[in-house]
Amino acid sequence: MLDKTKRGWWRSAVFYQIYPKSFQDSDGDGIGDLPGIISRLDYLEKLGVDGIWLSPVYDSPQVDNGYDISDYRAIWPPFGTMADMENLIAEAKKRGISIIMDLVLNHTSDRHFWFREARKGKDNPYHDYYIWRTGAPDAPPNDLCAVFGGSMWTYVPELGEYYFHQFAPEQPDLNWDNPKVRRELYDMIRFWVEKGVEGFRLDVIDSIAKEPDRHITSRGPHLHEYIRELSREAFREEGLVTVGEAWSADVEEAKRYSAPEGRELSMIFQFEHTFADCAHGDKWDVVPLSLPTLKRCMERWQRGLHGKGWNSLFWDNHDLPRIVSRWGDEGEYRVVSAKMLATALHGLQGTPYIFQGEELGMTNIRLPIEEYEDLETRNRYQEQIARGMPEAEVRSSIYARSRDNARTPMQWTGGENAGFTTGKPWFVLNPNYKEINAQAALEDPDSVFYYYQALIALRKRYEVFREGDFTLLEPDDERLFAYTRETETEALLVVCNFSRGETAFSRPEGFGEAVPLLSNYPDARETLRPYEARIYYRRREP
Ligand code: GLC
Repeated sequence: MLDKTKRGWWRSAVFYQIYPKSFQDSDGDGIGDLPGIISRLDYLEKLGVDGIWLSPVYDSPQVDNGYDISDYRAIWPPFGTMADMENLIAEAKKRGISIIMDLVLNHTSDRHFWFREARKGKDNPYHDYYIWRTGAPDAPPNDLCAVFGGSMWTYVPELGEYYFHQFAPEQPDLNWDNPKVRRELYDMIRFWVEKGVEGFRLDVIDSIAKEPDRHITSRGPHLHEYIRELSREAFREEGLVTVGEAWSADVEEAKRYSAPEGRELSMIFQFEHTFADCAHGDKWDVVPLSLPTLKRCMERWQRGLHGKGWNSLFWDNHDLPRIVSRWGDEGEYRVVSAKMLATALHGLQGTPYIFQGEELGMTNIRLPIEEYEDLETRNRYQEQIARGMPEAEVRSSIYARSRDNARTPMQWTGGENAGFTTGKPWFVLNPNYKEINAQAALEDPDSVFYYYQALIALRKRYEVFREGDFTLLEPDDERLFAYTRETETEALLVVCNFSRGETAFSRPEGFGEAVPLLSNYPDARETLRPYEARIYYRRREP
């Protein structure tokens, strides 16, 4: 168990993300819930994780699956009660697992009390909690397009005003320039800290400070000032871990957020690596993975933040497709490729996050369009068809990139509804649950699950995983991702074949005598087999 009283404990930690709606149902209503999570804590303890990032469980009309909060201090009833939440915090803590809550501070639901008040009139005390501009019905203040489609401005005829929302119209943006809004949010955070929550993931944190009139929707001029205030006022405890979601961050920006002596956050989620198979920086524009691009990106972040900030490490989350379907192989090499991808990531410097089901090698789904649940996917389909894009093209990008790929229920068993629920699941199960499920994984010593368990254990055992300096090898090789990590006393060599073919590799100088720590094949040969991964270790002479 990690000693969480130690400053910066999260640098040695591994986190696990739960998307509560799809994790485990306990009462047969087809929706995952908090008692369901509690019943799976032993599983997570066995995996060896130190904390759970819990996607939003607050009361919400669920337009965006909880990223539209109507009450920050209440639990959405289908998820359970406040007592269930307290119980989850306590039961997790007993197992050395911290609960990290998701904080959506950029916007609320339009059903939140503040917004219901705000739209009552311009002189309502809550009006200025949101961002409004006067205008005529058909003339929005500008042409900013919302992330989920349509305009960023929605008209309220009774007021003769538009309100601003970067996401759905049901997710109005809060006005962070109003000090009362900031105070309310800090008080709310303290409420959860007092309940024993040990950290927070901050949804779209780079968007809180904005200047819509100047088309600035992220990284606004007051961003870091607000984050420092937030950190000072709400995250006073040294032991809290904070991770900000920042799509706009580059390495320099990440240093500001996560400097070790800093006054902002523990780390951020940045997404540059997730664009290594996108054309024109557009996630829907799918092209084959460019491994050299991915490697250069990893190198830039690893070297850039070494000693100057802190990386988060992830392949998957609830907004991204499944990594084995994306850069591995869903078919005959599913298991080895899932392990290879895990190796490539967990050998790096930073704090790894595992998304539910990743430890089983869960895969993407393909559904008839009307069965997709995610509002972004649905809007995308309508918009692209209306623009005249051929149906087949729209579909294939949705298959590859829809957020729903990550949101099918967790596959616990090969039995009815994969053991997720005794009722009717809120969202379709991936039919491959008969083969891919936790029960089967736990019974198979060679499973993806036990491989993740081994990686987590290694990270705890060898300091070089946390501290080592990164050097990329063979930057232009299109099949091989190989790197070393070194401290004064230890060295690691990580070698991963990202291809379905065999590929040659010779160990770099100094690693001839290094011992193998872990591999996804039972023996080592001269060449690397499809998706083969190896980690070598040696002590260094001081
Ligand atoms: C973040 C969340 C995503 C959500 C959006 C709006 O990107 O991860 O799921 O839809 O913010 O809150």
